[in-house]
Amino acid sequence: MRLTDEEKRTLDGGRGEARRVAMEILAGMGKIFEAGRLVPVRSAHVLASLLNFHGAGLEVIERLAALGARYAVPTTVDPVSVSLEGDDIPLPPGLAERQRRICAAHAAMGVVPSWTCTPYWGGNLPGYGDHVAWSESSAVAFVNSVLGARTNRLSTGLEIAASIMGRIPECGLHLTENRRPRVRFRVEADPADELDFGAIGYLVGRLAPGRTPYLVGLPPHATWEQLTSLGAAAASAGGIALFHAEGVTAESRRGAVDLRGLRRAEEHLIDRAAIRRAVAELTTASRTPDLVALGCPHWSVRQLSRLAALLRGRRVRDSVRLWVYTSPYVKRAALEKGVAQAIEASGARILTGTCMVISFLRHAGVRVMMTDSVRAARLVPSEHGCEAVLAPLAECVSRATEAGAG
Ligand code: F3S
Repeated sequence: MRLTDEEKRTLDGGRGEARRVAMEILAGMGKIFEAGRLVPVRSAHVLASLLNFHGAGLEVIERLAALGARYAVPTTVDPVSVSLEGDDIPLPPGLAERQRRICAAHAAMGVVPSWTCTPYWGGNLPGYGDHVAWSESSAVAFVNSVLGARTNRLSTGLEIAASIMGRIPECGLHLTENRRPRVRFRVEADPADELDFGAIGYLVGRLAPGRTPYLVGLPPHATWEQLTSLGAAAASAGGIALFHAEGVTAESRRGAVDLRGLRRAEEHLIDRAAIRRAVAELTTASRTPDLVALGCPHWSVRQLSRLAALLRGRRVRDSVRLWVYTSPYVKRAALEKGVAQAIEASGARILTGTCMVISFLRHAGVRVMMTDSVRAARLVPSEHGCEAVLAPLAECVSRATEAGAG
């Protein structure tokens, strides 16, 4: 990888030890992926949960913070393993201390305290063609596909180094030739809600792991929330970091998708029956849930408003908890609109800065979780040993509540 004189000086330690360490990480990555150069990034999004940070990661971030490293570009941060409200599932003391140290190191380096996997609802909104350095697989799928920005799915440490330097090796999805679709999906299912879109993402990920798909047949008015669900499920089921949907996603709308490789590509059909089968496959329990958990990926104000409408005149049953996850920013906006109060008056809780996958559900005695999130239904059983029930939002609400004003 060619380095500029300034980058070479940084690598030799001429710009301080923190930047030398960050540049060494980027130079190593560039060499492995045979990048030609470093390109500037407009923003970063970094990980912070206990599931992402093991001992070595904590050591590196604390060392960088102690050396005086600072994020050079706007940098938002993913959720952590306990809510900002702090009383949902308390962490055991050892883990709580580790989580506190991770957050303190990010804060020292100047992170924007977003604590969310959907930072685009709160202002970290890359533009078309921008190079960015994001981790968080669901957010990566969204910014690459829906916004047409460019990032690889970075692991813990690389995004931190990239943000400190404001640069990333130009490889993978930063290059136009690597954004070509390799497999075609025909959707004949009239998807209507986040569950349908999530199921499509899950099928895409299962059938074509690691390949960039081209989807035909998604409704042109698909919302960001629906596309978020699709990308999040595709990322967790098949490591997909970019999808194109004809007439829907950013590069397709601009006629910028190179379709030549699709002529002889394999094609899959996703119809209503396939969606039904996917939902059945991800439903591992028929028992009554202990927890109905919504908000994976973190919900928008519009999604909270829809929940508030469904909860009108209903009360959460004594035998179940109804928790919905979002960012502190979205919760504040929902409070200003009176939406959050309407939800919590039913007995439901809005938790910020964490989620059902990265908090320690088993410590809260959860055995069966119900959700409308395909990504959560796929991840929670393997992460926490709980069973999952996957169902549309209205069914989740009706299982969690009974008639009676809150
Ligand atoms: Fe976000 Fe947690 Fe789901 S970080 S994408 S809500 S697994």
